[in-house]
Amino acid sequence: MHWPKGVDGLCYGGDYNPEQWPEDVWDDDVALMREAGVNLVSVGVFAWARLEPKEGEYDFGWLDRALDKLHEGGIGVDLATPTASPPPWFTLAHPDALNTRPDGTLQVHGSRDTYDVHAPAYREASLRIAAKLAERYAEHPALAMWHVHNEYGSTSHSPHAERAFRVWLRRKYGSLEALNQAWWGSFWSQAYSEWDQILAPRATQYLTNPAHELDFKRFTSDALLDHFRTQRDLLRAANPQIPITTNYVFGDWVPVDQWRWSGEVDLVGFASYPSAADETAERQSALHADLARSWAGGEPWLLMEQSASGVHTRHGAIAKSPGRMARHSMIHISRGSKGAMFFQWRSGRGGAEQWHSALVPHAGKNTRVFREVVEFGRALPGIAEAKDAPVEADVAILWSPESWWATGGHASLPADVDYFENVAQIHRVLRDRGVTVDFVAPEGELGGYSTVIAPSTYVLSKAAAENLRWFTAGGGRLVASYFTGAVDEHCQIWLDGFLGGLTDLFGIRVLEHLPQPAGELRALWNFGAAERFCELVELRGAQCVTQYATGDVIENQPAVTVNPFGEGEAWYVSCKLVDDAWDRLFEALELNGPGMPGVDVVDRGRWRFIINHTDAEAQVGHVIVPAGAWTVDERPA
Ligand code: GAL
Repeated sequence: MHWPKGVDGLCYGGDYNPEQWPEDVWDDDVALMREAGVNLVSVGVFAWARLEPKEGEYDFGWLDRALDKLHEGGIGVDLATPTASPPPWFTLAHPDALNTRPDGTLQVHGSRDTYDVHAPAYREASLRIAAKLAERYAEHPALAMWHVHNEYGSTSHSPHAERAFRVWLRRKYGSLEALNQAWWGSFWSQAYSEWDQILAPRATQYLTNPAHELDFKRFTSDALLDHFRTQRDLLRAANPQIPITTNYVFGDWVPVDQWRWSGEVDLVGFASYPSAADETAERQSALHADLARSWAGGEPWLLMEQSASGVHTRHGAIAKSPGRMARHSMIHISRGSKGAMFFQWRSGRGGAEQWHSALVPHAGKNTRVFREVVEFGRALPGIAEAKDAPVEADVAILWSPESWWATGGHASLPADVDYFENVAQIHRVLRDRGVTVDFVAPEGELGGYSTVIAPSTYVLSKAAAENLRWFTAGGGRLVASYFTGAVDEHCQIWLDGFLGGLTDLFGIRVLEHLPQPAGELRALWNFGAAERFCELVELRGAQCVTQYATGDVIENQPAVTVNPFGEGEAWYVSCKLVDDAWDRLFEALELNGPGMPGVDVVDRGRWRFIINHTDAEAQVGHVIVPAGAWTVDERPA
């Protein structure tokens, strides 16, 4: 059920938009796909206007012909519902169904994602087109998987959103009294006396209420999920044999809590677009892959999109050097992906993304890029056996989307806290030490890990705090860093020492937050340095591992502590350490793996994947991997 139906081996392909091309190009497409070993393409992702050119008038002829042609060529189809881009006729007929920004601006058609997921007209139109596709294609032999929508992530602040938000809040809090308490409504006269007074967090005069903001993100995640579910259920009813996915997008603007979504999809699909072209691209790819696998509960998942030949940066799309496309793909496959899919098959001639790279570039098949695509496609069947093998990790990093959301939008924290960077830092330092990690939700299953690291987990619910206590008491090693458990699930500050109330677990109290100017370092005795953020800590039974060497209030005060608790121990890092200091701490904790900086070594089932991103030969055990190359070997016993 989870595997794209009828697709053997690892999935290879990408978004394919036959509707953008004359039909005489399609034969060439299928021939080139066969040459490259492509076995799966995502079709129809933004094709709503071609499928339903006028309300209630459908044109499926072109899609019939495209699917038949793909099937004849032996290529499976991941068929999308096109609901991420409503056509102009829809938005003109239903202006109330446009996405509304916090300042009230309606986002008119002319781009994509111009919909309000809460608008009844949009919900109806989405279901109608999805039902038509289900009716026509559920039994089509090319159909391997359904791809619902595209990159759920649009927030709308419309009157429809507000009505739905109030219903969601009523269900959550039961009474206005409870809501006013949870939101600390006595501050700035924000207490509500009627449900209808509650708005979406729209543009207002000055700072907004963090609890209100956080609940609105949670609500939006649930509403988007509900939109997914309604489509999923009707597609599933049409043919229960076809797995259903959607492609997650990743970024701080995305109000999707993937921990809550992943049980709802048959296969976790993820779009990975690193944001910088230096070695950050490999680091982020590895982090994306580990997140996706963890969201999938350790099960295989699928890299649904990556760029074929450019890394998108603020300075344009920097071309991937020879071999880099294959290495990025292998990062994902080694970390549990069922294949490597791309945006997109063929570069378009027009439209907003006309300069986006593709497996078939504008210059056609006689290009470096397409030759690499063919070469990599031919290598994949050789490693197909690994496709369902699990990746095992002994160390986990806590991933708290709520901490990301709550610190990101908060204008009055003691200092900027870049939650994502703090998580990414732990991931990159461990990756450079060769350690493969999972991610885990704050309230998730921790039992299988020897060490759990909680970087700046700002929002810590009582349940999550108890989860950490239980993990440590049972013999786990917990390592938390500054600002962990600063607030509870309602963004209310944990009193009497912060730490989510876990002062006994850590054997300390945090007394004060002491940010320092950006760029200034504060030395720790024998331990490197801290930047930006330190906390004044009082020992309450914990041992001090190292102290601050400088700083007026903080000099000689504990910087890193450890406390035995039950069968385990709880470490606390009261500052933002630089990479080198984390590395020393992990050295002391003996967190080591077979990889090394620039060389990914990941064990998946009985296979060992070695990916050498450096420009020198690498040796791992008896295996020698040339510069810029990858290999898959038997995992050592
Ligand atoms: C993805 C999206 C694709 C395409 C791509 C460009 O986020 O799903 O449709 O826009 O980005 O990099």
